[in-house]
Amino acid sequence: MYTQLEQRGMARPPVNVSTLRDMKAERTPIACLTAYDASFAALVDAAGVDLVLVGDSLGMVVQGHDTTVPVTVSDIVYHTRAVARGLRRAFLVADMPFMSYSNPDQALESAVRLMQEGGAMMIKLEGGEGQIGIVEHLARHDIPVCAHLGLKPQSVHKIGGFKVQGRDTEQAKSMLDAAKRLQDAGSDIVLLECVPNEVGQAITAALDVPVIGIGAGPDVDGQILVLYDILDITQGRTPRFVRNFMTGHDTPQAALESYVGAVRDRSYPAPEHCFS
Ligand code: KIV
Repeated sequence: MYTQLEQRGMARPPVNVSTLRDMKAERTPIACLTAYDASFAALVDAAGVDLVLVGDSLGMVVQGHDTTVPVTVSDIVYHTRAVARGLRRAFLVADMPFMSYSNPDQALESAVRLMQEGGAMMIKLEGGEGQIGIVEHLARHDIPVCAHLGLKPQSVHKIGGFKVQGRDTEQAKSMLDAAKRLQDAGSDIVLLECVPNEVGQAITAALDVPVIGIGAGPDVDGQILVLYDILDITQGRTPRFVRNFMTGHDTPQAALESYVGAVRDRSYPAPEHCFS
């Protein structure tokens, strides 16, 4: 019945929230990637990725939209279910799409769909001070939460573009405060997107929960990138923090293993992938 007790004896047991916390404590970098279907999920898992996110980036890289705004809860459920079938070891996180968590009850309903129908083990929401009550409500119902700070792509039309966040002292300080409050409200992971290295470092040092970065510098507890970006599938310009891991590799599997290795030995991100 308690399969998790049996799994403890496995050479590479499935990753859970405790594994991720232990990795932070031991300063082992956490390798994360997005995935959207079972075949890629299996490759990513076999490469040793610790955490897989079914991101609402699927709106851009799978559905062909310009932003993540059109993505629905049903879209994420569909892709999460497919990814879950491909994973054996990695921890599965699913994104709460735009306007699926505008109040606590709606957030709970969306999160329950992602977990019950999709098989997600944690949900991610783009949040700041305004989402503290929502995170508290989810945590009160034992829903594991990853809070996404920094550049929040769902707010692209409000921000006026995909821009680095936290460059001025005031903004950096309020991001740090928000991160601490989100942790206190019950967030199990904080994800930081497109912030200067110093902001990534300060937030990581201040929090007990793991901090995963995408364009947040080398001093966070783990790195995440969009799968299609690192496999050179994405058409057109990619953000500064992206590295094409297909360079020098013949197969996606070799590229994915190289990504995991580069996160673990901290050769990724290099200075050219970072913001100041
Ligand atoms: O949707 C997504 O893929 C994300 C990552 C960019 C972190 O949120």
